[in-house]
Amino acid sequence: MGKRIAVLVSGGGTNLQALIDAQARGELSGGTIAAVISSKPGAYALERADKAGIPHFVIPRKDYPSNQAMTQALVAKLKELDIDLVVLAGFMIILTSEMVSAYPNAILNVHPALIPSFCGEGCYGLHVHEKALEYGVKVSGATVHFVSEECDGGPIVLQRSVAVEEGDTPETLQRRIMEQAEWKILPQAVSLFCQDRLRVQGRVVHILPPKA
Ligand code: GAR
Repeated sequence: MGKRIAVLVSGGGTNLQALIDAQARGELSGGTIAAVISSKPGAYALERADKAGIPHFVIPRKDYPSNQAMTQALVAKLKELDIDLVVLAGFMIILTSEMVSAYPNAILNVHPALIPSFCGEGCYGLHVHEKALEYGVKVSGATVHFVSEECDGGPIVLQRSVAVEEGDTPETLQRRIMEQAEWKILPQAVSLFCQDRLRVQGRVVHILPPKA
């Protein structure tokens, strides 16, 4: 049976679009994007879901007194929808331990840097690229990892590096990292998960060969 995937979003949803396009090309290995859930009403990602005919829901952060209360509402919704894999694609709320216990090694997050650089609390979206440029790194990139209790600290599934170029702004670097890394490795990681090819041993994720 194919896996049921929920994609959690907060903004523009270009990573969601990469997943929708991969599914249309038959590249999600039997996985189905069964739902898109946004923490923000009016997020453009919801329109992308709508256009693709994917059921979409809003669980606004502002309706809950804490991240924990919001996480509990999210888990309830994911269970109701019978979700197997949760993908955080530009989801800007830090989920609490209830989510990790409900979906152990079944939550993937895409982060726009080579973890453990430029990550952790407060390091999201454009801030990540501002920090990379300030630091002066010549290479950055993206990481897809399993979500654990530690913010951006879970086992790494895939990474891809991207060159920083002279004259880059946070915006140009963000775009290059999305195009060359995030939109490629996120669908790849989802596909590997759907094929049951990811084995987590401690901090290390082993990628098993394709099944014959
Ligand atoms: C992406 O660059 C994603 O990696 C980043 O936010 C952007 C969302 O874009 N996520 C984080 O910084 C999470 N810590 P999108 O809505 O167009 O996919």
